[in-house]
Amino acid sequence: MTAKPAPPTDIEMPGVEATRRRLVFSGLAAAGLAGCGGGASPMGVSTAPASALGVPAGQTWRSLPLLTNESAAAGAFSGALAAAPASAAWAAGVSTQILAYNGISPGPMIEAHEGDRIRVALVNRLGQDTTIHWHGMPVPADQDGNPMDPVAPGSRRDYIFTLPPGSAGSYWYHPHPHRTTHEQVFRGLASAFVVRSRSDPLALLAERIVFITDLRLDANGQIAANTAADFSNGREGDQLLVNGVRQPVDAVAPGTTERWRIFNATNARYLQIVLDGATMNVVALDGSMLGAPKSVSVLLLAPAQRADIVVRAPLASGQKLTARTIPYSRGMGIPVKPGETLFELTTSAASALPAFALPSTLPSPPAFGAPQRTQTVVLNDMGMGMGMMGGAFTINGRVFDPERDDLTMRAGVPEDWVVRNDGMMDHPLHIHGCAFQLVASNRADIASGPRLGAFMDTVNVRPGETVRLRLSIDTPGRRMFHCHILEHEDQGMMAIVNVLA
Ligand code: C2O
Ligand code: CU
Ligand code: CU
Repeated sequence: MTAKPAPPTDIEMPGVEATRRRLVFSGLAAAGLAGCGGGASPMGVSTAPASALGVPAGQTWRSLPLLTNESAAAGAFSGALAAAPASAAWAAGVSTQILAYNGISPGPMIEAHEGDRIRVALVNRLGQDTTIHWHGMPVPADQDGNPMDPVAPGSRRDYIFTLPPGSAGSYWYHPHPHRTTHEQVFRGLASAFVVRSRSDPLALLAERIVFITDLRLDANGQIAANTAADFSNGREGDQLLVNGVRQPVDAVAPGTTERWRIFNATNARYLQIVLDGATMNVVALDGSMLGAPKSVSVLLLAPAQRADIVVRAPLASGQKLTARTIPYSRGMGIPVKPGETLFELTTSAASALPAFALPSTLPSPPAFGAPQRTQTVVLNDMGMGMGMMGGAFTINGRVFDPERDDLTMRAGVPEDWVVRNDGMMDHPLHIHGCAFQLVASNRADIASGPRLGAFMDTVNVRPGETVRLRLSIDTPGRRMFHCHILEHEDQGMMAIVNVLA
């Protein structure tokens, strides 16, 4: 064993100027730096190309453990999450230092029902500030784990909120501290939060949680620090994990119908998913159901997006159902990851189960009233036209400032946001505290997919694309909106909408 991995607190981000150069000359910069001898630079940016220590594939399926509900009262959930350094046994014979909730990564899954009163105590045993953000969930702004509300090392805070009617869906939780979110997440802090409805038309289906993260280990089996290219492009790992396991396998009865809740919890990996052996019927995107199931042959999940799909296993025994990714190009000069197997199910010798009749309509959120005004949001990734003063990753030409309100809107009043990507790479825009509706895009192929008209909390916007979102945020307070490529978010591609009473 050689050097100990740098503790998370050593990580700093490269300066804006350095970032701009890297963005423009990322290939050259990476090659040049790699020649400098490798190892971690004083800035905490890894200069060595990761020499992948592989995680053995093909282990048995692992489900996420549930966070224990410590409340005995009906309609109440009370749990505790301690964020702390821990270790994981991924590569053979190596203990990998990670950051974990309650000792595991992904952390425990939280499961609750619409109407439940939630209390989650966060104990911060990291050496730095953290928060828990309830991604996509309609929680009050002051309970949403914003970067302006840090939880200091050694302290505890309780997040308290009630899940409103209509909030059932697949959400996730992760840290959201100022400038260090990307690292706390790629070192292991995140998990699923599933809100259930008592009138879910799909309640009888077996469910499979597919929580996808993206690991990159160094030659010592430790989580590699970000490279300069990671800060420009967003970090991509070199092995996808499902529920913390690489390419898990499982057996199912022939003809089984399952609902899969798929989470893209990676910092920057676009998951373009195909399924060999069955059709994917999309029933929900992010936290909201579609109005009707939509079958797709390819499902694109940008970072932070989720999809619920219904899948029926083949009817004969010994058949395979393989979920895998295919390459996706997300911008000029960004290396395209090869496709990778996610997991594989094999049908057992049991007799085939009968078909499940998928309802033809589903309870999607109600339509918004007429939008009262339109605001413009421009995403950019090079500070184009900003001279030497601009940041590399901006929203409406500016980098994030926690003191500034970038937009305002009225609580409960619907409006449209026209979002344009002037940059050179895809950016997944996420807005806190709401599900917005994608009402239009200038992209020709949008109509053939499941997203047009759907409600989401994160929308991918391609270079040159303009989308129109309709949204309403019901409760007052300051809400974040940002690119969910976490390196971009932490370098300033984030803004605040102040929702006024
Ligand atoms: Cu999933 Cu503001 O984040
Ligand atoms: Cu969020
Ligand atoms: Cu981005």
